[in-house]
Amino acid sequence: MANSKRVIRGGRVIDPGQGIDRVADVLISGGKVVEVTEAPLDAAPEGHDVTDASGLVVAPGFIDLHTHLRDPGHEWKETIESGTQAAARGGFTTVCAMPNTDPCQDSAAVIEDVLRRAASDAAVRVLAIGAITKGRRGKALAPMGELADAGVIGFSDDGDPVSDANVMRQALSYTTALGLPIINHAEDHSLVRGGVMNEGPVATRLGLPPVPASAEAVMIARDIELAALTGGRLHVPHVSTAAGVELIRAAKQRGLNVTAEVTPHHLTLDETWVYGLHGEVPDAVPAAAYDTNTKVNPPLRSSADVAAVPEALADGTIDVVATDHAPHAATDKVCTYDEAAHGINVLETAFAQVMKLVHEKALSLPELISRLTAEPSRILGRELGTLKPEAPADIVLLDPEAEWTVSADDFVSLSRNTPLDGVTLKGRVVETVYAGATAWNAMAAEPSAK
Ligand code: DOR
Repeated sequence: MANSKRVIRGGRVIDPGQGIDRVADVLISGGKVVEVTEAPLDAAPEGHDVTDASGLVVAPGFIDLHTHLRDPGHEWKETIESGTQAAARGGFTTVCAMPNTDPCQDSAAVIEDVLRRAASDAAVRVLAIGAITKGRRGKALAPMGELADAGVIGFSDDGDPVSDANVMRQALSYTTALGLPIINHAEDHSLVRGGVMNEGPVATRLGLPPVPASAEAVMIARDIELAALTGGRLHVPHVSTAAGVELIRAAKQRGLNVTAEVTPHHLTLDETWVYGLHGEVPDAVPAAAYDTNTKVNPPLRSSADVAAVPEALADGTIDVVATDHAPHAATDKVCTYDEAAHGINVLETAFAQVMKLVHEKALSLPELISRLTAEPSRILGRELGTLKPEAPADIVLLDPEAEWTVSADDFVSLSRNTPLDGVTLKGRVVETVYAGATAWNAMAAEPSAK
């Protein structure tokens, strides 16, 4: 209940935005944070429910800047309701809905419809991203001012880049007045040319049409120059290559208004996953090869690229982890690799996937939580992803050491398209609290869970 009073007691509270990392109690009331106490309380204040969080990490709810909810238009893949339930299971209390819906989110009417339905159907907060161009066709700008007035948090034609540099220049120019980022799909389609996986030895061996890593670098380089030209605000989605990382690092050194995100899969899975053996490299092409659940835009990259992106996340070149949760139905994936839809279902596995980096000491747990809370909040410019007094009581309880085995059949998402089915991960979302109320409780949903 939004007005319930509760104490989450004795957990390791990590709130990177406030520099908090200590054992403490979190008090919530009326859907808001009351305080993170300096010293653990002896007894709960009267009328409060008490949750024993000892041994767990307590953090602000995660923010996903890049989610495909598929609603309106592709509701057999996902809906606002199912996608936000999947988000809650993954520890996310805010998701930003990408506009490649049908109709696409290129008018105030569609944005208002999504936000209105989210207010009644969503398990967590939904923010909307407007299209950059009308119909996402890349030709004429969408009514960006009208979309900003309707509440969008940025603009993207995601799935498709804005290929025309002058249209992109105009869009970036508008952001100087609107203050919202352009999130341009970072792939040059003239280099992608129908490719379906990363260019390299695995693509050659499997005989699949390749996408060069430079398809990403070329688009990022162009967009950075246009951000320099216009003074506009650029957010680079799903960075997947070492070359892309270097361009963003240089842009930040130039003081440009550029931020970037990386997905859990580009941080942890390389192109050998297309063999279908969960990252093992076989001597001969195995029967499991051509796992269509590994097909994604941009594609899973070489091991050198997969080594470069966590480094960039740790040193702040890449600002945030964003899921690019892209649910697709079985009919989109039970087909040849060439024909399959691009996209991976990520929300429910995201935290455990990226915890691999913490377990391997590529970055610390507070740094990782910051990339899921304080950093996306800074990009949004909203008081979210924090346990400050009066902030919405959006909170996750995490067990960083708990192991669990992914079962796509257990997804609350309507779709099952994960290459991680059957894979054991370490790091579990125990409970997700949204605006003071439980949106996901692993113990209630999965009593057999550790
Ligand atoms: O693989 C992808 N799928 N990449 C995108 O950019 C879009 C997404 C989708 O909408 O399915």
